[in-house]
Amino acid sequence: MKLHFLLNQRAHPEPNSTFATAMRLLERSGFEVSSAIAEEALCSPDDLYPGHDLYLLKSQSELSLSLAGALHDRGGRFLNPYPACALLQNKITAASRLAAAGVPVPHTWVTGDFALLRELASSMPLIVKPYRGPMNSGIVIVLGSENLAGLVSPEQPMLVQQFIHGTGDNLKVYVVDEQVFAVSMPFSARTMRGAGVPCTVSATVRDIALRCGRTFGLGMYGLDIVEGPDGPVVVDVDYCPGFRGVPDIAPVIARYIADVAYSRASLPTSLPPLKQLWG
Ligand SMILES: Nc1ncnc2c1ncn2[C@@H]1O[C@H](COP(=O)(O)OP(=O)(O)O)[C@@H](O)[C@H]1O
Ligand SMILES: [Mg+2]
Repeated sequence: MKLHFLLNQRAHPEPNSTFATAMRLLERSGFEVSSAIAEEALCSPDDLYPGHDLYLLKSQSELSLSLAGALHDRGGRFLNPYPACALLQNKITAASRLAAAGVPVPHTWVTGDFALLRELASSMPLIVKPYRGPMNSGIVIVLGSENLAGLVSPEQPMLVQQFIHGTGDNLKVYVVDEQVFAVSMPFSARTMRGAGVPCTVSATVRDIALRCGRTFGLGMYGLDIVEGPDGPVVVDVDYCPGFRGVPDIAPVIARYIADVAYSRASLPTSLPPLKQLWG
């Protein structure tokens, strides 16, 4: 049974230690495990052949996602399915599906003209983020319409969201099949990151997390949750999280990948129709 990991360039020369360990565990249990970093290989989409039994997309780069799309198109089997990853990579389509499925998300707007935000910005705090691309690059918090003047016209579409004032720490939530883990992250407006501390998962957060997975047909994923005044709000869904801060997670990940590879656990290959998720 052959597994192939499409890895993030930043992971060079080793994938993050959780996935490196999971890959070693899979090898030890008899899988043939290979990996590639799309940016560091010369590859021809003309003659891509999905010769592995299961692919794992562990990169959010546009090149990796595009190659995953080509492999999916040619019959490659993915954990998580490519159509879900493509919807999630675009924060506009992701926000739309999450809202339609009844997941608590911030109000979201899109525009190419920040001047149109004047009225909104004077009525609530906003956060503006690029519609694609992780790692907090280009994220701006707008507190009042006077802050809009400092925003330069975006070179790419931007997502404008109601900024949820957290009442506690932000949560990084990680899901493997039905198992839900959480790491509490102290919020820093400068870095929006910090050292995480594992914490318990409330029943509400668990329900929200599993609903997100069903909404996209994912098996292994992460969420960014802000504990707002009206309860937890999902601000981001990640189809290839690093599970940073979750103790002893590598064997859990390896077991799940093995289960999917042997079809003991199943994943949808097409996105669940929204009609099925309503109600
Ligand atoms: N609407 C929001 N309200 C409050 N905080 C937010 C909101 N959106 C994002 N954040 C904060 O900014 C961080 C980065 O935003 P996110 O959408 O997760 O982008 P990225 O793709 O870079 O991870 C989140 O983890 C969260 O701490
Ligand atoms: Mg995020």
